[in-house]
Amino acid sequence: MKPRVLSGMRPTGQLHLGHLVGALANWKQLQEQYECFFMVADYHALMSEYEHPERIREWTADNVADWLAGGIDPARSVVFRQSDVPEHAELFTMLSIVTPLGWVQRVPTYKEQLREIEGRDLATYGFLGYPVLQAADILLYKAHAVPVGEDQLPHLELAREIVRRLHALLKTEMFPEPKALLTEAPKLLGTDGRKMSKSYGNTMSLAAPEAEIRAVTQKMFTDPTRIKMTDPGHPATCNVCGYWKMFAPQRAARIWEECATSKRGCAQNKRELGDVLVELTEPFRRARSSGPSRQEIDRLLQQGAAKARAIASQTISEVKRAFGLSGDRAK
Ligand code: TRP
Repeated sequence: MKPRVLSGMRPTGQLHLGHLVGALANWKQLQEQYECFFMVADYHALMSEYEHPERIREWTADNVADWLAGGIDPARSVVFRQSDVPEHAELFTMLSIVTPLGWVQRVPTYKEQLREIEGRDLATYGFLGYPVLQAADILLYKAHAVPVGEDQLPHLELAREIVRRLHALLKTEMFPEPKALLTEAPKLLGTDGRKMSKSYGNTMSLAAPEAEIRAVTQKMFTDPTRIKMTDPGHPATCNVCGYWKMFAPQRAARIWEECATSKRGCAQNKRELGDVLVELTEPFRRARSSGPSRQEIDRLLQQGAAKARAIASQTISEVKRAFGLSGDRAK
């Protein structure tokens, strides 16, 4: 039997190049070796967007369309929405009961987000429990591994601590200790060379129209020390050359060389990178014009939820019984 993986994304906007490099491309690969559960973490999205939740549903469908276009295969992997599987909320309740307050209070992402996210009141009871819900997501499916970016490592560590505590309290060994599969994506900077972030407006949506991809690429920042074309470029510090390496690795060596020896100007470099990015994002545009309809995506999520629940409800029964509650399932 293949080991199991669970991962999730929060539906808080359209997916962009950062999601492709940081998660989606990796998810696609993982389907070869693992039994995969890919979840739209809409409760997690709600924890920060609860004041303006109008678009979570729309983003859910939009994100799933991108997952499919990016190679997630619902015949092989379980694709579902967190809020369609009530067992997430149930296990969250039970984990909340046994998680010491100090453990969640010291999670660094919590303190950081309270400090950094502006315009939203995140000082809620629910938001403090964010990583406990994430632990519930993982444990419900007894996942062995969780692909995450570095920022999520403290959440994985908390999930492992919760597993150890449960095992000690319940005197059983119910869950594997989930290990992080760190996505080794080299950092992709935003189009302006700063950290990529939706709030900086320096991302490129995967489904953006061709003209927009080209326009944004044409406006990218290049090597600031290169004024004239005859100046040699510094590809190692040029963001456009960094994109070349990421998205067309087989051509990048020659392009870097031409840049460093003044045989290739920045305008040409950006124009041709535009071609590469247009081609790369083609499946995501196609998914919008001729891909599955909203109804088909809804149906697919319903089927995914049914498969997820088949497993999640067994885990819940097991945990409830271990706690001395009735684990009988409603018929
Ligand atoms: N917290 C994750 C993020 O913001 C999303 C997430 C929710 C998740 N539940 C998960 C990731 C379970 C991995 C496993 O990226």
